[in-house]
Amino acid sequence: EKNTTDITELMTKRLPDKVMGILYLIGKKADKEGYKVYGVGGFVRDLLLGKDNLDLDLVVENDAISFAKSLKNYLNGKLKTFPQYQTARLTLPSGKHVDFATARIEYYAFPAASPEVEQSTIKQDLYRRDFTINTLAVKLNGSTFGKLLDFFDGAKDLKEGIIRVLYNLSFVEDPTRIFRGIRFEARFNFTIEDQTLLFMKNSLITGVLDKLPGEKLYEEFRNVFYEENFMDALMKMDEIGIFENIFPDLKLNENKIETISIIQDILQWYEQRSYNKSVSKEVLIFSCLFYDQPAPIVSSLSERLKIPTKIREVIFTTINHENYLTKKLEEDLKNSELVELLDGYPLETILFVLARKDNKSIKEKVYYFLENLKGVGISITGEDLKNLGIKPGPIYKKALEEVRKARLDGIVSTSEEELEYVLDFFAKKGERLNG
Ligand code: CTP
Repeated sequence: EKNTTDITELMTKRLPDKVMGILYLIGKKADKEGYKVYGVGGFVRDLLLGKDNLDLDLVVENDAISFAKSLKNYLNGKLKTFPQYQTARLTLPSGKHVDFATARIEYYAFPAASPEVEQSTIKQDLYRRDFTINTLAVKLNGSTFGKLLDFFDGAKDLKEGIIRVLYNLSFVEDPTRIFRGIRFEARFNFTIEDQTLLFMKNSLITGVLDKLPGEKLYEEFRNVFYEENFMDALMKMDEIGIFENIFPDLKLNENKIETISIIQDILQWYEQRSYNKSVSKEVLIFSCLFYDQPAPIVSSLSERLKIPTKIREVIFTTINHENYLTKKLEEDLKNSELVELLDGYPLETILFVLARKDNKSIKEKVYYFLENLKGVGISITGEDLKNLGIKPGPIYKKALEEVRKARLDGIVSTSEEELEYVLDFFAKKGERLNG
């Protein structure tokens, strides 16, 4: 019977002992104080999927804040309450936190207190959620610890890999769920069920995205980008019309799809190299989405999505300098010239050019720069210059830069040679200054 599955064994197997201990304690305390408490959301979903997720989301009947308060001393935690949302966050000494939310009944209040009705409260709370796979709950009260609640066949959908919405107005009430559905589909390699897909499309047609603030839209885009399998998610966004809904020409075409998929490969390659500088995935993907648009459109799209200024600037640089950088990279360049050129650009711009240009010589130069030149340093320092009796000043920087160039071009390769080179540099400088 679906409402009586016990997942204590699964929990014991999957969860660290400490977490299990905390959940037991919470259940015991709830019994004692007369609350009902349930584990819900992604935590339960991922538990059944066999994926690690220790974001503990708990729902409490009937008052999360007062229950969390009673737990505070018991678990030696720090409590933050949010009365306007009837939620609380308890941070444990380990730094791990547990979120408590009060079970909510949105549409109708129930008459008090039979067990039947108490269960209906959690049922109502779960019904308000986004997809059936997120409606699973696990009881934590002592006597019923580990009992799975599955009112909406979430376990079945989870098993069959189906993203199914709970009610038809869900996406109208909360358009961010369109993005969430697409993310879950890509992340778990699930399928959005037909009716759900239709609800998504219909809500888009009625203009739900127009009502979404830029900041929210940006956040949802970002969430999609940072999914490992963002490519499928972007394709799905396109398929149901999200891009054209925001701006007609934003619709993906073959070129963009090609560029994005190359970007995916490049990012994978880059991450494996474990260079110490991280790349902004969003700069790269936004650049792919925007590059074929005229500058004013790129500006207004960035404004619509409220892309933060710093990110926006790198996107603009990337799009605007692509052609120039490509042209320069086609020239014959000494190593030092290659470094001087590429050091002047954000890493994202360089990787974008790599993705866009199927040109062997450009690729070789960029890879050579990243693999062999970028990290090249020199042995001598300002201290050495001081020891040579040269007066400190801006000239130091210039001199050391010249030495690095010489090193990059293979003119010097030992610290002795570097010293000789720098002396030569100052001698020439002196001559010119004197003469
Ligand atoms: N939820 C919802 N509608 C939203 C956001 C969240 O119904 N727009 C519900 C879902 O039931 C979800 C729970 O709130 O399971 C917690 O949300 P969140 O932590 O954002 O989602 P997770 O499901 O944990 O997803 P992720 O793994 O991406 O964090």
